[in-house]
Amino acid sequence: PGTWFFDAGLTTTAMTESAITYLDGDGGVLRYRGYPIEQLAEESTYLEVAYLLLKGELPNKVQYDAWVNDITHHTFIHENVRKRFLEGFHYDAHPMGMLVSAVAALSTFYSDAKDIHNPEVREKQIVRLIAKMPTLAAAAHRFSVGMPFVYPDNELPFPANFLSMMWKVAEPHYKANPVLVRAIDVLFILHADHEQNCSTTAMRTAGSAHADPYSSAAAACAALYGPRHGGANEAVVRMLTEIGSIDNVDAFVESVKAGKTRLQGFGHRVYKNYDPRARIIKKVAYDVFEVTGKNPLLDIALKLEETALSDDYFISRKLYPNVDFYSGLIYQAMGFPIDMFPVLFAIPRISGWLSHWSELLDQDAKIVRPRQLYTGAPERNYVTIEQR
Ligand code: CMC
Repeated sequence: PGTWFFDAGLTTTAMTESAITYLDGDGGVLRYRGYPIEQLAEESTYLEVAYLLLKGELPNKVQYDAWVNDITHHTFIHENVRKRFLEGFHYDAHPMGMLVSAVAALSTFYSDAKDIHNPEVREKQIVRLIAKMPTLAAAAHRFSVGMPFVYPDNELPFPANFLSMMWKVAEPHYKANPVLVRAIDVLFILHADHEQNCSTTAMRTAGSAHADPYSSAAAACAALYGPRHGGANEAVVRMLTEIGSIDNVDAFVESVKAGKTRLQGFGHRVYKNYDPRARIIKKVAYDVFEVTGKNPLLDIALKLEETALSDDYFISRKLYPNVDFYSGLIYQAMGFPIDMFPVLFAIPRISGWLSHWSELLDQDAKIVRPRQLYTGAPERNYVTIEQR
């Protein structure tokens, strides 16, 4: 008491104890509940990973089937959320802006959600949020491109259902390619949690005030909207498009080194090594391009990576590709418009946010309320407007 530590950006402060995700930034290691991300990406499904994050253990077959069934039967959104709320946005609204607002609006549809200390009520909101995120995301996209809404098809697995809600009608006989379904599922696994990142900290901060889970998740979504966080893969594709050709890569890298711009998709607060998710994503990219054809920006990305990783500026600062360096290229090849990229990040990250929210309630955590170092004016007397 009486002693504060100044830690701008909380770079060296652990705000909580957590048993969910282990991250070793120097070693490039990421584990959910002890399981290496590489094994989960290879063997698991997103819904199984969501269960693992939330409950701490992998489900057995009975538990898994019940969980998937529960999620599947909560995918519909209230008609007013779509018709009155989402369709009330301006025609060119950014889908992530729509998602932030729609997630917040859900709190007004589920007033039972305020009873956050009741385990059954809590579980119900968790299921609702995980299940409805793809529906909200697809609805936001379809509104923004003027296409009619597609209802969830509960006969389909979670990732295939999402792709169907995105693309059906535009292609009436649409049936998602299994390679793309698996790619989306793997991308969802990789994005499901990342310990105390900015949006999770926002979730924990709002949650620590005992805000309901929808309002807390809206705070997290808002943080994810930022270009330094969930907006980075969008920024990568814009950057690669602007570079335009591998002939321009060297000049671009020089402008980064001169401090004129940042190499988007590079660098990370915690990873001072290759982001393990970036390795997996690079492989997924090749699987997807087999189906969709190669994204023409890939060659620029590869050349950029090679140039940066052999340049002392990046080596000395330990700047490596992060999860966003290749994910945007995959999403773009699959047909997602650039402004959907942060939305695609939010869909699976909801399970991480909710795991942390639930953990903090179980911990009976204190309200987040940091101190500050005041740098403003000393005490002075009020002067009336006529005398100023
Ligand atoms: N390009 C060029 N230089 C960089 C970059 C970059 N992408 N990232 C960091 N640096 C330099 C920075 O200029 C600084 O150099 P100096 O010491 O000479 O001033 C040094 O590296 C340390 O940078 P920092 O800004 O203090 O590092 P940070 O930990 O605060 O920032 C970051 C982390 C992710 C915000 C930053 O690396 C960045 O802006 N990267 C580009 C955006 C991006 O890819 N974000 C996605 C992050 S992963 C997914 C997610 O979290 O959502």
